[in-house]
Amino acid sequence: MALLEVQALSRSFGGVHAVQDLSFEIEPGKIYSIIGPNGAGKTTVFNLITGLYRPSSGRVVFDGSNVTGKAPHELARRGVSRTFQNLQICFNMSAVENVMVGAHLRLDQGMLGSMLRLPALARRDAVCREEAAELMRFVGVGKYIGALADAMPYGALKRLEIARALAARPKMLLLDEPAAGLNPTETHEIDELIQKIGVSGVTVVLVEHDMKLVMGISDRILVLDYGRKLAEGTAREVRDNPEVIAAYLGVVAKAAA
Ligand SMILES: Nc1ncnc2c1ncn2[C@@H]1O[C@H](COP(=O)(O)OP(=O)(O)OP(=O)(O)O)[C@@H](O)[C@H]1O
Ligand SMILES: [Mg+2]
Repeated sequence: MALLEVQALSRSFGGVHAVQDLSFEIEPGKIYSIIGPNGAGKTTVFNLITGLYRPSSGRVVFDGSNVTGKAPHELARRGVSRTFQNLQICFNMSAVENVMVGAHLRLDQGMLGSMLRLPALARRDAVCREEAAELMRFVGVGKYIGALADAMPYGALKRLEIARALAARPKMLLLDEPAAGLNPTETHEIDELIQKIGVSGVTVVLVEHDMKLVMGISDRILVLDYGRKLAEGTAREVRDNPEVIAAYLGVVAKAAA
């Protein structure tokens, strides 16, 4: 059974049809990528799946339940977690505290307890802190465990966001341009990290403009153009599709040259 089913989903903003009659399914344990030109509706799809936006019409079914229009915290509780296209880091907090925030839905009594300084709950806070530190090591930013977030370079912050999203222990993780602004070495490391997350059993939904990354790691790829599905298939099927080349891949190749 599919972990995620998107059924005839649409969302407009005024006269802009950001997502139009879009349907796709994601099997559990897969790395599923969504690509397409700027403004194609990729982030809007993420916002619809994670409950940030309500669809104009259509349905989102996650793990067998209709979650259409449910609030973000409800989706998070059910196992949907994400990162954002633009960094969403609290720079006045430590790196590890930023990651702990990602666990708060799971452990919110722990956070409350630590504020009230209750001994049993303070212990849970310590456990949460250690789990957050472990996740920082997992994503490769272990050396910043004791650091303030604003002391971290951009590439490390992109990973810190992934650690925070993983702290919620998601079944499905949505990554919105995790390699944006990274150099080739950092992009290669993100590539490895995404594969490691996939191997750990988390279903990954990836929005990314780096085609080398996308083509190398995706089990399936959905191509959007003007909010509609232009194509869907394996990397090879999508890469060889003349419509996809005309609408997007040709442009990307030219930009890279
Ligand atoms: N909150 C909003 N209000 C108004 N218009 C919006 C809103 N969110 C998205 N849009 C519009 O919907 C369309 C799709 O935007 P979206 O951000 O989903 O594209 P994208 O594929 O993620 O693009 P990019 O690759 O540049 O990140 C665009 O025309 C955008 O201007
Ligand atoms: Mg976007």
